[in-house]
Amino acid sequence: MAEHLLAIDDVKEDFNDILKWAIEFKRMWKSADEIATNFHPLADLAIGSIYEKPSTRTRVSFEVGINRLGGYPLTLLKNDIQLGKSETVADTANVLSRFLGAITYRCFAHSDVAELAANSSVPVINALSDKHHPCQAAADLMTIIEQFPDNDGLKVAYIGDGNNVLHDLMLACAMLGIKIHYACPKGYEPSSDIIERAEEHARENGSQVIGTNEPLEAVANADVIYTDVFVSMGEEGLKDKINDFEGFQVNSELVDNASNDWKFMHCLPAHRGDEVTDDIMDHQNSIVFDQAENRMWAQMSLLSYLVDYPAWSAMGEMMGIGF
Ligand code: CP
Ligand code: NVA
Repeated sequence: MAEHLLAIDDVKEDFNDILKWAIEFKRMWKSADEIATNFHPLADLAIGSIYEKPSTRTRVSFEVGINRLGGYPLTLLKNDIQLGKSETVADTANVLSRFLGAITYRCFAHSDVAELAANSSVPVINALSDKHHPCQAAADLMTIIEQFPDNDGLKVAYIGDGNNVLHDLMLACAMLGIKIHYACPKGYEPSSDIIERAEEHARENGSQVIGTNEPLEAVANADVIYTDVFVSMGEEGLKDKINDFEGFQVNSELVDNASNDWKFMHCLPAHRGDEVTDDIMDHQNSIVFDQAENRMWAQMSLLSYLVDYPAWSAMGEMMGIGF
């Protein structure tokens, strides 16, 4: 089992079970089943979350989820701590490991969360870096499986920037044998090392990872249409970047080419009018808010798995999801 979660394929061996666990735990918790509501593997543990960038979903879903698992969330905003001022990432990891049961970290450079993990004696979860967003991908695939329990032959289309969200989405789809077809403008394709990794997972699981620069080609007969902002956090200086995304907006004209039962997904926050139009965001086929809610359930599964694997697997067996 994995020690840390830096990219979604760190939990490759158990990904399917992590998602099944999250779906079943959500169902039980929502029906007030005491097996779920009394599941407190984080009891007496403080879980620290460091943020170098703003967050709505990640912060709130971690704080609420940690509470529900019996733990105590400690949110550490970059401006309030010594990290990046007078203290290194490695020293911060050493100090925090003495107090905390796990650390989540939202950072700019992916190398920083990797360094935190390398120097931490407790699990580290990447809460978004410039290269990966594994918690998002876990919630995304949980949402796709909820919508399409029989996902044989399913096609996911991603239209937009080849960024952190696409990286983990393509790794995650490939790990579950789901076909992903992405369309990015020239020069904005995903990193070649991620494409290679995703293709390897796809080969192992009988699926396909296909890239194009043509949105219409990617969206043809797709069951899920996914997009993200064209300009990510940390890229605010790249003012003209958005001009390179003409034709990559998810709008009614584009989704007309998808399957009849298409669903629209977005990690949020959305820049309405840029990468997606209002009518698609607010369409009855848009599942963006279920997707946002699932951040919490997916992370509760991931946290339990990383912090207390025996409790997580015992709960899985109790839920009868075939561990
Ligand atoms: N999707 C996501 O990570 O949202 P936040 O930036 O609000 O955490
Ligand atoms: N790609 C976006 C995702 C935000 C959740 C960013 O990194 O800003």
